[in-house]
Amino acid sequence: MKTLLFNCQTELGIRNILIKDDQISYIGLGKSEYDEKIDCHGFTLFPGMIDTHVHVRDLEMTYKETWETATRAAIAGGITTIMDMPNTKPATIDLEGLRAKRLAALQALVNYCFHLGATENNLTDIEKILRKQPADVAGIKVYLSSSSSNEVVRNPKILEKIFLIAYKYDKPVLVHTEQQSILDKWFSHTSEKSIKFHSLIRNREAAIEGTKLVLDLADKVGSKLYLCHVSTQEEIELIKTAKKQNENVFCEVTPHHLFLNENIIPEVGNIGKVNPPLSKKIDNKALFKELLNGTIDTIGTDHAPHLKKEKEQSYLNAPSGFPGLETALPILFTKLREVISQDETLHIISTLFSKNPADIFKIEKRGEIKTGNYADLVLFDPNKKWKIKSQNFQSKAKYSPFEGMEVQGKVVMCFVNGIKYENQGDTKL
Ligand code: DOR
Ligand code: ZN
Ligand code: ZN
Repeated sequence: MKTLLFNCQTELGIRNILIKDDQISYIGLGKSEYDEKIDCHGFTLFPGMIDTHVHVRDLEMTYKETWETATRAAIAGGITTIMDMPNTKPATIDLEGLRAKRLAALQALVNYCFHLGATENNLTDIEKILRKQPADVAGIKVYLSSSSSNEVVRNPKILEKIFLIAYKYDKPVLVHTEQQSILDKWFSHTSEKSIKFHSLIRNREAAIEGTKLVLDLADKVGSKLYLCHVSTQEEIELIKTAKKQNENVFCEVTPHHLFLNENIIPEVGNIGKVNPPLSKKIDNKALFKELLNGTIDTIGTDHAPHLKKEKEQSYLNAPSGFPGLETALPILFTKLREVISQDETLHIISTLFSKNPADIFKIEKRGEIKTGNYADLVLFDPNKKWKIKSQNFQSKAKYSPFEGMEVQGKVVMCFVNGIKYENQGDTKL
């Protein structure tokens, strides 16, 4: 099967792209034979997005999300590869957990790989898995504090051992940097436990100190360090400095930490409860500046679906996180287009949301529109204006802190390994 995407706006300029079966077989201005021709005039063609940070759930939490619903959401959002986090039930911390996840993931409609969870007592399991060099393990995830019932690594000696294993097997260590001891201190110091004080209770000091700790460790050990969801000005400044001397430091930012802050909390309540918390306007500014400057390596959605009912519980009972797969690309496109040209926007999105994730996590033949690469492509209408309506989400989590936001740019069609998915109406597939 040959599909010709005719007259696409790409990073290289206007091009015709030929998809043959699951691969890109031609990029150029000439003509070629085809079975189907799609006129892409006026549309932009992105490489499929690669999301480094997704909580698919499934297994014992299918009520929150399944591989099918999460990957439908991914396609609606232009995301053709997802990396799943290990804080599932059962957790992906040993062979058994990995086996269960592999089975569940067979429902996936997009490409995927897994992050393995490190705990204080599973180092032999991790080594056992990595020794067999499974191609589907992307990185090793460490939580320095509990967030949605994860196993926490508090002991610095064990943390160092985890970094050493990661170095030995050349896998990035991904870190949720909020440190438990600092969270505990602020929790007991804050008398009123309410969503209004979430960013005080889960104080920024926790992520800042955790970032310092793992930057030092990465320097000492030499392993690849991937800092998840950087949320404060202080962290990004520390990272910027560290990157000058250590080329193995990488960092991710989420759309919500870039574009939302605690000022929305009175309006959205627990819908806006997330870890690390939504911070301040100065943090949005600093993160966006460093995104434009090239300090930030990747966009990760931290898609963290929970039932709306669960989010409506009291502050302490409501789980943290919200869906993000379907909103990330249009929001990013909208916000970038407000300050830079369409060409620059295309370049930044393609780099941070596709090329860099592929490079950092060694995803082969994806992350770029290139002859011989798999045909993971996103046809995008850069002029379409629409409003985010979570009732139309493919995800089971039908709410969003971005609810009602007017955005410009919409996924029209998505190719995953050459298979075509068309979006109809409001992110409906
Ligand atoms: O808000 C969050 N939700 N932060 C995390 O670190 C975990 C995530 C989840 O799994 O729900
Ligand atoms: Zn996290
Ligand atoms: Zn997460």
